[in-house]
Amino acid sequence: MNSYGDFASLYDELMNDFNYEEWSDYIIKIFQRYNIEPKDILEMACGTGNLSYYLARERYNLVCFDLSPEMLTIAYEKLGKFKNVKLLNQNMIDFNISKKFDSVISICDSINYITRDDDLKKCFKNVYNHLKPNGVFIFDINSYYKLKTIIGNNTFIEDREDVFYTWQNYFDTEKELCEFYLTFFQKEGDNLYSRFDEVHIERAYKEEYVIELLKDSGFSKVDCYSAFTFDEFNEFDERINFVAIK
Ligand SMILES: C[S@@+](CC[C@H](N)C(=O)[O-])C[C@H]1O[C@@H](n2cnc3c(N)ncnc32)[C@H](O)[C@@H]1O
Repeated sequence: MNSYGDFASLYDELMNDFNYEEWSDYIIKIFQRYNIEPKDILEMACGTGNLSYYLARERYNLVCFDLSPEMLTIAYEKLGKFKNVKLLNQNMIDFNISKKFDSVISICDSINYITRDDDLKKCFKNVYNHLKPNGVFIFDINSYYKLKTIIGNNTFIEDREDVFYTWQNYFDTEKELCEFYLTFFQKEGDNLYSRFDEVHIERAYKEEYVIELLKDSGFSKVDCYSAFTFDEFNEFDERINFVAIK
């Protein structure tokens, strides 16, 4: 069962409590804090292009990619008008773009979708190789605490005007995997709903392990913060933001 297939058409509606403009402001603050003025940015797992849209408006040259053609189709509707944006269908694990970037970014826990250690290593090494000297890699993860304690082994239900959905989650402590079983009922007409299901799997990573892998991949400096701040993260943070310098 594919993730981000049929769900793509509902993604923006269900993410409407996320403020991507603020997210873009935070990324730009990171650039300023690290004294970099990027021109060329690579966004991995751009989804429907919500962050890309705000960065495109700031006139950065963006290459954005995602694994899901359905998510990219929606991103294209949003971003097609920007001459400074290129969209590609690639995989974070083995992407290959014949260009180097001032910054590589990936937001909204997309990195947790890489579930195998060797794939995460491949991704980090590949990001390193696509960065110019002193380039900066910015990404966030859902924290181990959030996946294990808040989301894991919990069920969420949401009843909206045009969609009703359930989200049943299981955390496998041994494999450190959180499985999300999503069932959507999308309104098609009076008393008529169409159902579809998706399974998503996120890997729970401890911060120390991510830092170690980044350093092993060649990054010279790695900082991590409680997301949207420059505060040191704590054990109850739900989202952790990493900044790694080549
Ligand atoms: C939670 S969504 C985040 C999307 C977007 N970054 C945002 O902020 O809205 C996760 C995204 O990661 C993408 N994804 C998952 N695994 C991927 C992979 N191996 N390579 C590229 N994209 C991937 C999915 O297709 C999906 O669009």
